[in-house]
Parts: sequence; C-alpha cells; structure tokens
Amino acid sequence: MAISSFSLYCFLSLWLGQSLLLQASHHVYRNLQTSLVADAHNQVKEPYRTGYHFQPPKNWINDPNGPMIYKGIYHLFYQYNPKGVVWGNIVWAHSTSTDLVNWTPHDAAIYPSQPSDINGCWSGSATILPGGKPVILYTGINPQNQQVQNLAYPKNLSDPYLREWAKVPQNPLMAPTQANQINASSFRDPTTAWLGPDMIWRVIVGSKRNQRGFAILYRSKDFLNWVKAKHPLHSAKKTGMWECPDFYPVSIKGQNGLHTSENGPDVKHVLKVSLDNTKREYYTIGTYNIHKDIYIPDKGSVESDAGLRYDYGKFYASKTFFDSSMNRRILLGWINESSSVEDDTKKGWSGIQAFPRKIWLDKSGKQLVQWPVAEIEKLREKEVKLPSSVLKGGSVHEVLGVTAAQADVDVTFEISDFKKAEVLDPSWTDPQLLCSQKGASVKGGLGPFGLLVLASKGLKEYTAVFYRIFKGHNNKYVVLLCSDQSRSSLNQDNDKTTYGAFIKVDPLHEKLSLRSLIDHSIVESLAGQGKACITARVYPTLAIDVDAHLYAFNYGTEDVKITGSAWSLKTAKIN
Ligand SMILES: *[C@@H]1O[C@H](CO)[C@@H](O)[C@H](O)[C@H]1NC(C)=O
Ligand SMILES: *[C@@H]1O[C@H](CO)[C@@H](O)[C@H](O)[C@H]1NC(C)=O
Ligand SMILES: *[C@@H]1O[C@H](CO)[C@@H](O)[C@H](O)[C@H]1NC(C)=O
Repeated sequence: MAISSFSLYCFLSLWLGQSLLLQASHHVYRNLQTSLVADAHNQVKEPYRTGYHFQPPKNWINDPNGPMIYKGIYHLFYQYNPKGVVWGNIVWAHSTSTDLVNWTPHDAAIYPSQPSDINGCWSGSATILPGGKPVILYTGINPQNQQVQNLAYPKNLSDPYLREWAKVPQNPLMAPTQANQINASSFRDPTTAWLGPDMIWRVIVGSKRNQRGFAILYRSKDFLNWVKAKHPLHSAKKTGMWECPDFYPVSIKGQNGLHTSENGPDVKHVLKVSLDNTKREYYTIGTYNIHKDIYIPDKGSVESDAGLRYDYGKFYASKTFFDSSMNRRILLGWINESSSVEDDTKKGWSGIQAFPRKIWLDKSGKQLVQWPVAEIEKLREKEVKLPSSVLKGGSVHEVLGVTAAQADVDVTFEISDFKKAEVLDPSWTDPQLLCSQKGASVKGGLGPFGLLVLASKGLKEYTAVFYRIFKGHNNKYVVLLCSDQSRSSLNQDNDKTTYGAFIKVDPLHEKLSLRSLIDHSIVESLAGQGKACITARVYPTLAIDVDAHLYAFNYGTEDVKITGSAWSLKTAKIN
C-alpha cells in the first residue's frame, strides 16, 4: 500500500534532520526539489497563471532580490529553484525591464560556485556605489551549512543588462565566529548599504538571539572589509528571526523617494522586517541617529506584526529600491501560494511577485502609503465607467464589459447616513479576526459593501473585498477593510484565511476608495488611496477566464453610493 504522499514528505523532512537546519523559512520537500515539472503536453490549460504579475515559466520562486535601476534598465533578481516546484537548489534568477511591466529573462546571475555559497545563494540586496557601479551583497550557505555574507559584482559595466556576475575571492566578508556570537543558522539577508557623512558604509543583516530579533550592523570603508558594530542598529524582543530587513529614508514632504544614503531634517527612516515565526512583515517609522548608529522607532510604534504592515494578506520577504530615474521608491514582495504542494506540483510552478508599488510617507507622518506604479496604465484597454449609482442595502450589481479575470478596478464609495453603523465592541481589536467573524455574507448596518471579484455566475465562487464601518468612541467611525477568501474556490485544499485591516480614514469627510488588481489567481486590493493593502491568492474552479465576473455589492442595510471605473488589462510580456 502506498503511503500518502503528504505524510511521505513529512517523514522525509524529519528523517533528513540535516535538511531542517537548511530550511530557513521554507518547507523542505527534499524528494521534490529536483523533480521534473509535469509534462508540458499534459498542461492543457493553466487557469492560475497570471497576465501581468511577474513569474518565470515554471518552478519555484520566492524573495525578490537586489532590485535596482542601472543605465535606464530595471533589474529584478529572485530566489529560484531551477529544478523543481518546491523550495531548494536556490540561485539568483534574473530578469530586466524598461517599464516594470514587461520583463525579459536572462541566465541566472548568482549561483553556487565558491565554498562560501556552495550550498545555496540566498537573499540579498544591490547597492549602487559612487560612480554608478552596482554591487550585490547576498547570503551564501557554506559547506558547514553556515549562513555567511558574500559580495558579487558585474563583470562588464558596459552591458546594461549586467548579465554576468563575478564574486570577490575574499568571500565570505561577514561570517559567524565564536567571538561575535552570531547564530550561524540565523544570519541572513543583507540590506542595501548606505554611506554616512564619515564616508563609512553601513549595512544590516537579519538575525535573532533567543526570541529577540536583531538588525546586526556592519561597517566598512571599502565595501570589502566589514567590521561588526558593538551594538545592532535595532532589535526587538519576542519577534523571533528577522528575515529580509529593509532600512531606508522617506521624505516628510511629498511623495518623492530618497536615495538610501540620504539623511537630514526632512527625513524619517523606515525599518521593515519579515518575521520567520509568523510569515508576516511589519514596519516602524522612526529616526536614524547616524552618530550613535541606532534607529529609534517613533513613540507609539508597535514592534510586532500586530503593528503596521505593508500588506495584510499574502506578502512576504519584500524589498524596496530607489528608482533614481523617477525619484521614487518602489516596493516589491513575494506572493506565496495558498495551495497544496500536490496542486503546485500539478501546475508546475509556485510563487509570484506582487505588482511593483510606489511607496512614500503619509502626510500624517504615521504610516506609509502605496500605489501600483503608474506604468500599469500601459496595459489598460477598455475603460468601463461605473456611473454614480446607489447600491441599495442587500443588492448585487454586475459590472459588465470588462475582462473580469484580468482587470484593474478603481471605485469610490460615498455614505450620506451613518445612523445604522454598528457599534464597535472594544474587544474587537484584531481586524483579521473581526473579518473572519464578519465575512462578506454576514449582513450588517454600514457594510459590508465592496466588490465580488473572480466570481462565478450564480456566485458559487467569489473573493469578496469590502468595507465595514463601525461607530467607535467619541462619535469617531472605525473603517475595516476585509478580503474574504472563504468562497474563493470549490477546492478545499487551499488556505482560505480571511484577511483584514483597520484603515486610518475619516468616512465623515473622506470618500472610501477601493482599487483591486485582479489577475486570475491574485487579488491585490488597496484601500483608502493606498493606506492599506491586502493581497489574496485564490484558485477558482469555475470563475476562470471568460467565466469570471465582477460585481459590486452591498449587504448592509444602509444604502451607499458607488462611482469609478474598471479597465480590462492586456497581458504583459513576462519572461
Ligand atoms: C561588454 O558589454 C558590451 C555591451 O553589451 C559589449 O559590446 C562588449 O563586448 C562586452 N565586453 C566584454 C569583454 O564582454
Ligand atoms: C540558532 O538558530 C537556530 C535556527 O533558528 C535555532 O534552532 C537555534 O536554537 C539557535 N541557536 C542558539 C544557540 O540560539
Ligand atoms: C507559503 O505557503 C505555504 C502553503 O500555504 C505555507 O505552508 C508557508 O508557511 C508559506 N510561507 C510563507 C513565507 O508565507
């Protein structure tokens, strides 16, 4: 009798105890790491491949690495398994673009070739040195399975595609030793480095000690000899391993991005970390004291994933870079699957990159704001205008004339009467829990109202993205955004967690906007003009391609007004 393949994987990864040491944040399916992708002839249709989200033709991908612009060309590297649909055999795959929408693939840029990376080339970041020369710091896994930091540089700076990379013979440049007490299994993901006014470079590397998360600080005069500072840039208790830290300046004036080395009176700093324990990220906004070389989060910052997040859905291992050609900072993030390994194996691929978002500091100075880069508009085809109309309590309206499986929808809701808003119970502090208790089908007073996307005719399947408005204390209204995946697929093997976020908008004085990027198996929703985002990974079985529909709905008792547009999106040329 065959043992179920699932328990077989579990058995193998336990038995190969060594693989656990190497697993980092990823499940290890040792027997699948080199398995061949399902025979191309058997793949009659691939309903979950995306039209404008970044993905390679096949296999596993995870973290975006070293994004940068060089000689007018955008570079995206990413963690890639060239041999299978699960994590393993990790190299830096490489693609370039002139518009962040269409991407051309190149050969892998960084792959195991030195003792200091022979067991894997893990995440890292690019830094543009003075004179415009890019270099990459990345984590290598050495023969002892220790995590160490290495440097790579382009072989030919005249090649704008930077197709070939070399490694310095001095690698590793940063390594765990007895003296520095760094945990060799928890030392990875160097950031983009920044240059102080003292002409000394700094970089941080994610780590932990017991359950305290650390941003270990290193300094260098020449980018080759790195010395660990006595203290970390920052650390926080009970957060566990900090993966993929990102540390960068934001302007307190307007939406322009800043070069990573910039500092001064009009500058705040952001520290983002990805928590290996919960697979969630959080960020704080604060001050970087360059003299003491420490980062101090602003008062009131929540230093856990209960605080501010870029995205309250599936979004991890993110990284930003400064786009000097457009003076903006751009955020990229990995969207993991929510499906079973068996289903990933069948479809032959796993993992997508989120659509690039511009990111800046909100006027309040208390949070960041994100918006898909304007280049997405190149893909817009037909605009379907939703004339200003009333969504009566209890109604559903189909938006016709748009390719609902591949669309960009931007709508605004207006409320004129708040009397029916439900009173917020003071114990309702966890937005995700609240959204799961009050899903789209739970009728309310003011809301739920929003969109049903990737919906089948008859609504057997849909993903609901919606608002609910509650009355809090002092006549203040509390706005909740939910993304409810519970009805997104008839397939029961998927993770259908409902996601939620509270949004800092005042519905008495501001309209409630909702933008959704819909792409076959992804729904990226941005609420409050980019004040909160939720990404959902869904696998409809009926609402596929032309059988996908788009609806606006209101299951509250109070009427709301809706206006806006929906665009069919063309398919981008990706890899
Ligand atoms: C460097 O790149 C340029 C531009 O692609 C190319 O013309 C040149 O031949 C390359 N040089 C070498 C040594 O490969
Ligand atoms: C080092 O990190 C690994 C991986 O998280 C953990 O299992 C181990 O307990 C840590 N060792 C120490 C001494 O903290
Ligand atoms: C990715 O998704 C799988 C399956 O849902 C899950 O087990 C794993 O923890 C996820 N990892 C991250 C980093 O989100």
